[in-house]
Amino acid sequence: MRWAVANANVALVKYWGKAPGCEHRPATTSVSVTLENLASAARVEYRPPGAADRVAWEPAGPTQELGRFVELGRSRLGIDRPLDVLVTSNFPVAAGLASSASAYAALSTALGSLAPEPPRTDRLAALARRGSGSACRSMLGGFVQWRPGDDAGAVTQLAPAEHWPLQVLVVVTSTLPKRVPSREGMHRTRATSPFFDAWLIATEQDLTAVREAVASRDLHLLGPAVERNALRMHATALGADPPLLYWEAATVAVIREVWRLREEDGVPAFFTVDAGPQVKVLCEPVDADRVALALASLPGVRRLLRSRPGGAPRLLPGPPAWAAPRHAHGS
Ligand code: PMV
Repeated sequence: MRWAVANANVALVKYWGKAPGCEHRPATTSVSVTLENLASAARVEYRPPGAADRVAWEPAGPTQELGRFVELGRSRLGIDRPLDVLVTSNFPVAAGLASSASAYAALSTALGSLAPEPPRTDRLAALARRGSGSACRSMLGGFVQWRPGDDAGAVTQLAPAEHWPLQVLVVVTSTLPKRVPSREGMHRTRATSPFFDAWLIATEQDLTAVREAVASRDLHLLGPAVERNALRMHATALGADPPLLYWEAATVAVIREVWRLREEDGVPAFFTVDAGPQVKVLCEPVDADRVALALASLPGVRRLLRSRPGGAPRLLPGPPAWAAPRHAHGS
């Protein structure tokens, strides 16, 4: 039996759109930060020869997709036995956060440990990407770039987690499943939004600013580029037909409060929003309490999680502490 854990990530420059004519490659380069302690764990175990695979995703996730992914992983990595697979996440069940990036990164790592020849990280990242595009960025810790292409350098670390101990506050505004899965949302945007080509061009400018800001640990350069990029992603999605509106009223309330904190109180805090209603807010550690207090009391905010840049996936001898009570005996 093998266990692996991997962290979620939040995109600073978004992946929103696949390359034409190809299912699994991004149209643009994206940059993310891997988030400490927002993790998924995967357990893999051999089943008797001739048995069918058994897969489970707790709390309930798309097990059919997971089953197909296990088949793909087995054939790519040369694993010739049926498997018993479990993935689970430590995000509070009610948090309504996407767990697919950390789940597929953890599972790719666990499957890799069963391969006859230990696979390199870039091979595992190429596998993880097939489960969920952004999962390939969770294969590395710290600040990570994913650019189009299949070569070994497609996913690279721009800087390790210790380089910049930024605070990332995850503001949960809804616990319902997202309205339109990102895969479908991206497809619809590319096919119908008249703003999509402009989005591709704008992303290039944001990338330059974000790479430079990470290298120089400059929040005043990073923050505006991250906000701009998120708003442009949502603008191109709003232009789709039918339109994609991922926000709730509380999402807007958080955005406005972040702006107010900056403009009136002079607190450097900056937001980003993925394909859902939750808001992630970046700030310096010294400002985190104040920002958290201001945001937690807004109407519609359900909870607030605190994170910071985190590390790469790891193999573990048993379940991580947070999963141990339920899975200590591999049941
Ligand atoms: O990894 P996917 O297919 O769930 O797509 C992720 C899309 C965004 O979260 C909106 C942006 C990103 O780069 O993570």
